[in-house]
Parts: sequence; C-alpha cells; structure tokens
Amino acid sequence: MQIHNIIRDRRAITVFKDKPVEEEAVLQVLDAGRWAPSSNNSQPWEFIVVSERARKNAIADLYVEGYRNRAKKVDEKTGEEIVKILPYLENELKAPPYLIIVCANPEKSKSYLIDTSAAIENMLLSAWELGLGTNWIDLTSTDFANEFNLKKLKEYLLIPDEIIPIAIIPLGFPEETPQPPARRRIRDLIHKDFW
Ligand SMILES: Cc1cc2nc3c(=O)[nH]c(=O)nc-3n(C[C@H](O)[C@H](O)[C@H](O)COP(=O)(O)O)c2cc1C
Repeated sequence: MQIHNIIRDRRAITVFKDKPVEEEAVLQVLDAGRWAPSSNNSQPWEFIVVSERARKNAIADLYVEGYRNRAKKVDEKTGEEIVKILPYLENELKAPPYLIIVCANPEKSKSYLIDTSAAIENMLLSAWELGLGTNWIDLTSTDFANEFNLKKLKEYLLIPDEIIPIAIIPLGFPEETPQPPARRRIRDLIHKDFW
C-alpha cells in the first residue's frame, strides 16, 4: 500500500475482533514507533505490551471508571449518553488481543509529549498497513484523561514514578471500519506566503 493511502484510509477503530494477532506484527508496529523522529534523537518513549486477559480487563475497567466519572461531571443528558455506551467502551479494550500502553520519560526530553506522539502516529499507520486496527486513547489532556485514574494504572503495571503514561493503543483486527470523519478542506488550511 502506498503511504498516502495508508494515511488516508487509517481509521480510529473502536470495535475489534477477539482474534489473535501474530507477535511478529506487534513487533513491526513497535519498531515503527522506535523509528519516529524525536528532539535530539532523545527517544523518550517506552511501550508496555499487555496481552494477559486479566490485565487487559483491569485496564478496561479503569477506562470505564474514567468515563463513568466523566458522566457525573457533564449535564444529565450527556451523562446518560455516556452511561449507555459504557459496555461498548469496555469491549473496546477487552476484545483486542493487545493493549500498548505508551509511556514517556520526561527526563530524556523536554518535548517528550511531541516526540511520543510522533511514535504513536507511526504505530497507528504501521498497524493499518498490516490490516490491523488501533485507536489513540489519550491519557494526558482530554476531558476523559482528567477522570482517568493514572495512579492506579501506574501501580497496576509497576510503572516507575518518573515515567508518564501517554496513551492506550488497543491493537487488533477491526470488526467495523467507520466512514472517514470529514477533514477540513485543504484550501482552508493553507496560507500561501503569509496568513
Ligand atoms: C490526542 C487524541 C486523543 C484521542 N482520544 C480518543 C479517545 O479517548 N477515544 C476514542 O475513541 N478516540 C480517540 N481519538 C481518536 C479520534 O477520535 C479520531 O482520530 C478522530 O475522530 C478522527 O478519526 P480517524 O482517526 O478515524 O480519522 C483520539 C485521537 C487523538 C489524536
């Protein structure tokens, strides 16, 4: 597949098949992360590859708990909508054979979040090339991330104090591939010569 097609066709997958993925494929995805650019080649990323079912389930429970907390903070209608999709969210992390917990070491790079995001994008694209689906569940800055119990995740996965979990990437065969969400028109975002 041409790189441009991979970039355009990749989708955020939320429904996965409960079907094994070869270890070789997982290694290829992690290797794509390893080759991302980083400031001063600092490579501040660390990847925890979770495949044990009990461990994936525990992370899925934290994910659902995060959304349940979020549901309490929003208005009643939005809260009810979130509560309705909780079983579906749970399955997003329970069904795929792998969860990659992407972490960063801020002592290695001031721009650890940018560096690690580049590694994440490489992994999403590499997975798509292999026919695998992923999603990018941010643990740093979204409304959901504010409600996610990072402390529990760190304790559970024995993540050292100085290391920051950045994202959860479920990795597996897509059960459903959504239609591409619209992008801004290219002419609306290009500023020729000046703004
Ligand atoms: C920083 C970041 C955080 C995201 N967080 C979530 C998330 O928590 N849950 C989710 O289902 N998708 C999440 N996504 C995926 C986006 O919703 C998705 O990329 C966007 O809607 C565009 O869809 P596409 O990736 O299929 O083109 C996140 C993406 C990024 C880059």
